[in-house]
Amino acid sequence: MQIAVVGSGYVGLVAGACFADLGHIVIVVDNDEQKLAALNNGQCPIHEKFLPELLQRHRGHRLTFSDDLHSAVAASDAVFIAVGTPPTEEGHADLSYVETVARSISGAMNRYKVIVEKSTVPVYTSEWIRKIILRNAAAPDSFDVASNPEFMRESTAVTDFLYPDRIVVGADSHRCAAVLREIYAPLTDGSYYKRQGAIPRPDRAQIPPLIVTSTKSAELIKHASNAFLAMKISFINAVASVCESVGANVQQVCQGIGTDRRIGPQFLNPGIGYGGSCFPKDLKAFRAVAHECGYEFRLLDEVMHINEEQRRRFLHKVRSALWTLRGKHLAVLGLAFKGGTDDIRESPAISLVETFLQEGCRISAYDPAAHERAREVLNAKVDFADNPYEAARDADALLILTEWDEFAALDLPRLHTLLKYPIVVDGRNLYDPESMAALGFTYYSVGRPAVSPDIPSVEPQPAPKAFKTS
Ligand code: UDX
Ligand code: UDX
Repeated sequence: MQIAVVGSGYVGLVAGACFADLGHIVIVVDNDEQKLAALNNGQCPIHEKFLPELLQRHRGHRLTFSDDLHSAVAASDAVFIAVGTPPTEEGHADLSYVETVARSISGAMNRYKVIVEKSTVPVYTSEWIRKIILRNAAAPDSFDVASNPEFMRESTAVTDFLYPDRIVVGADSHRCAAVLREIYAPLTDGSYYKRQGAIPRPDRAQIPPLIVTSTKSAELIKHASNAFLAMKISFINAVASVCESVGANVQQVCQGIGTDRRIGPQFLNPGIGYGGSCFPKDLKAFRAVAHECGYEFRLLDEVMHINEEQRRRFLHKVRSALWTLRGKHLAVLGLAFKGGTDDIRESPAISLVETFLQEGCRISAYDPAAHERAREVLNAKVDFADNPYEAARDADALLILTEWDEFAALDLPRLHTLLKYPIVVDGRNLYDPESMAALGFTYYSVGRPAVSPDIPSVEPQPAPKAFKTS
C-alpha cells in the first residue's frame, strides 16, 4: 500500500517507520524544514527504542520524507493525519493543524482514498474532516474518513505499534475498513512476526485482534483509554497517601490488588504524578467534550486534582527531609516526563525543579536523554551533570524524579560517599526502604514508611494545606 503520514512527531514518525517495516511504501510529510533536513541526513530526532534501526533500514527505500503534502497525498491510498493537537487555554484540543491538513488534502484527491485520524482528537472530528474536504470540492465518494487511534507509549512506541494489544479501526463503510484491514494485515495474520529482522517480540505478545467500530466510538475509545489509565495512576497515588498516613506500604497493597486479574498490576505505580503530551491534555479535552455534550465528568476533575496534589506532597517530603530549602543544593535524577524518553512535555520533574528553583535551591541535574530539551526551558539556572554521581557530589539530598532503568541500578555506596548528607527522596519508588537504611541512607519514597539508619521508620508527617510555590 502507498501511505502518507502527515506530521513527523513522536506519533507520525514512529507510525511511518513501522508501516514501512510492515512492507508499505510510506511518505512522511512535515512542514518543519529543520526536522526534514535532519531526517533526510540520517538523524533520528527523538529518543525512541528501535526507531534509529527502522529509519536506517527503510530510509530512502520504503520510507521518504517530504514537505510536499499535495504530491504525497496524490501518490497514496491512505493518508494518516498525525499533526499535534495541543490544548487551548480552556482545555479543548486545538484542531487548527488538523483542519489545515484536511483542507490541503482535498486539493489532491485523484482516486479513492482513506483519510485516517491518528492524532488524538475529540469525538466528531472525523465528521468535521469530512465536511472540510467536501467544502473544498472533493467528490463525496472519492474518500472516507477513519479513526485509528494509537496506543503507543513513548519509550516503547515501536514495540507498542508492532505488538499491540488490539488495533482499533473506526470506519463507517466496509470499503474504508477494508483498506485499514489490508494495512494491518501483516500484524493481524501474524506474518510480520515470522519475518527475519522483525522487531523483537515482548513477553506475552499475541496476534492482535482488529476491532472495527464506528468512527465516533473509536474517537471515544482513545480518550476513554487514556482517562482510565490516568485514573488508575491517581487512584493508586491516593491510596499511597493513605498508606503514608497509617504507616502501611503501598507496594504491598499494589501486589495485593494488582494480582486480581480484574484489576491487573499495570499502571499501579505511585509516584509524583503522570505527565507527558497525552494524559494531561487528553483528560482536559475529554472533560471539555463531555461538558459540551451536557455531561459533567467530575470524576476526571478529581483525577487531575490528585495528580497535582502528588507534586505538592513530594515538595512537602523534601521539606520534611531538609527543613528549609533556601540555599540547599539538590541533586536531581530525571527530567523527562518518564523513563526511556527525551520528552519533557508536561514533565512533573521539570515542574518540581522550577518550584525548587523558586524556593532558592541550587540544582544539579542528570537525565540520560533530556538535557537538550530541558536546557531550553530551564536555561542556565540548572547545572547539567554528565552522570548521576557528578550530580550528587556535595548535594544536601538526592531526588529521583523519573523512572529511568539506570536510576534503579546506581552504585549506592559510591553515592553515599559523594552526597554531603546521605538523604534520598525517591519520587518513583525505585529502591527498597530497608536496604537503603541498611546502607546508611535516610530514604523517603511514595506510600511507604520513610526510613533512616538509626530510626528504621521515620514518623509520617502531616501534609500542609496549600501548595506554596514561592
Ligand atoms: C501526537 C498527536 O498528534 C497528538 O494528538 C497526541 O495526543 C500526542 O502525539 P506528537 O507526535 O507528539 O503528537 O506531536 P509533535 O511531536 O508535536 O509532532 C507533530 C508534527 O506535525 C511536528 O513535526 C510538526 O512540525 C508537524 N506539523 C504540524 C505539520 O507537519 N503540519 C502542521 O500543520 C502542523
Ligand atoms: C500514553 C498512553 O499510555 C499511550 O497508550 C498513548 O495513548 C500515549 O499516551 P505516554 O504518555 O507515552 O503514553 O506514557 P505512559 O507510559 O502512559 O506514562 C504517562 C505518565 O504516567 C508518565 O509520566 C509516567 O511516569 C506516569 N505513570 C505511568 C505513573 O506515574 N505510574 C504508572 O504506573 C504508569
